[in-house]
Amino acid sequence: ISSCSVKTLTMPGVLLGDVFPNFEADTTIGKIKFHDFLGNSWGILFSHPRDFTPVCTTELACAAKISDEFTKRGVKMIALSIDSVEDHRSWSKDVMSVSDKAESPLPFPIIADDKRELSVQLGMLDPDERDKDGMPLTARCVFVVGPDKRLKLSILYPATTGRNFDELLRVIDSLQLTAQKKVATPVDWKPGEKVMVIPSLSEADAAALFPNGVTTKEVPSGKKYLRYTQL
Ligand code: BEZ
Repeated sequence: ISSCSVKTLTMPGVLLGDVFPNFEADTTIGKIKFHDFLGNSWGILFSHPRDFTPVCTTELACAAKISDEFTKRGVKMIALSIDSVEDHRSWSKDVMSVSDKAESPLPFPIIADDKRELSVQLGMLDPDERDKDGMPLTARCVFVVGPDKRLKLSILYPATTGRNFDELLRVIDSLQLTAQKKVATPVDWKPGEKVMVIPSLSEADAAALFPNGVTTKEVPSGKKYLRYTQL
């Protein structure tokens, strides 16, 4: 079996539009069923290779620092790492001290996946990153789940590259906007900037839907697909 096919076998994951598994897990706030934990909220699940590791600690500290921004957007946060609840509780204290809020509890739970069952189910193991016993570690996965419990976005980073949590807020802003309106957000878009009219919308429907007007950028092909509007 080639290393290429090993990767295919170990990283199948959940696909966009799938109902996210309603898994049961032990966490730092007790046992949860994922759908009950989410209720009617959006959710973000981010995985970590291991507790007490440097990059993971900086990521969790950042997530803790900006957790109010997720709450503001109606997004419930939950982390996962392949260690025990006891380790997670101890590690959380380190995380909060790095976050400059040593007296506060971590503002979101961490799932204890010490048997790696969930990491396998969700396709999160990174076959290239192993612990000292040769066991694969979890990659840095991000899953954003909508109120309908379906997967809206997934991002997969290797263990050696930390994520950008401001980017996660930015994509959540885009996901929540484009779930409501027939628009798409262009490169590097930020809330308040112009958005693009989706290609499937006719000129007449676009004119009716966007009272602030639609401007079309001329391109050499003459095709009128670069349509912007200000919401
Ligand atoms: C870290 O979080 O620093 C890390 C974990 C596993 C592999 C490499 C880095």
